[in-house]
Amino acid sequence: MSVVHSDTIAVFSESDIVAVRRRVRELASQVGLSLVDQTKLVTAASELARNTVVYGGGGTLQLESLNGPRIGVRLIFTDQGPGIPDVELAMRDGFTTGTGLGLGLGGAKRLVNEFEIHSTVGRGTQVALTRWK
Ligand SMILES: Nc1ncnc2c1ncn2[C@@H]1O[C@H](COP(=O)(O)OP(=O)(O)OP(=O)(O)O)[C@@H](O)[C@H]1O
Ligand SMILES: [Mg+2]
Repeated sequence: MSVVHSDTIAVFSESDIVAVRRRVRELASQVGLSLVDQTKLVTAASELARNTVVYGGGGTLQLESLNGPRIGVRLIFTDQGPGIPDVELAMRDGFTTGTGLGLGLGGAKRLVNEFEIHSTVGRGTQVALTRWK
């Protein structure tokens, strides 16, 4: 799998979340994802960006366009926040330690083709999403 283009942006504030949505839409459109798939990826990215800000204390988003053998977009959210003690539990619909509905992670996973989450307590969290064309 080859990464054609990669770019990293900061994700610390509400306005950064707006920028994430815009950048993901642009890249998804550039690689030729359908409008429906663009929207799925933007929605998933928005959930992850919000978690990065709210729980992770801010972090980064790496945007990658993939080409060969398949075309797609990969998004990697990274923070150096408190981490998630029980990832399996956190992935469950309805689980929240905040004031949300606890649907962000599970919902995001269902909107993409590949979803990987790694988290270490005291070190931080990394979530990678891929949507293929
Ligand atoms: N980057 C992160 N760092 C630390 N904890 C996280 C992170 N992302 C998610 N979590 C934990 O996982 C839980 C579930 O996240 P999820 O996005 O599914 O739900 P939520 O953010 O609580 O609510 P919703 O997304 O529906 O508004 C969070 O409540 C939080 O405890
Ligand atoms: Mg959330």
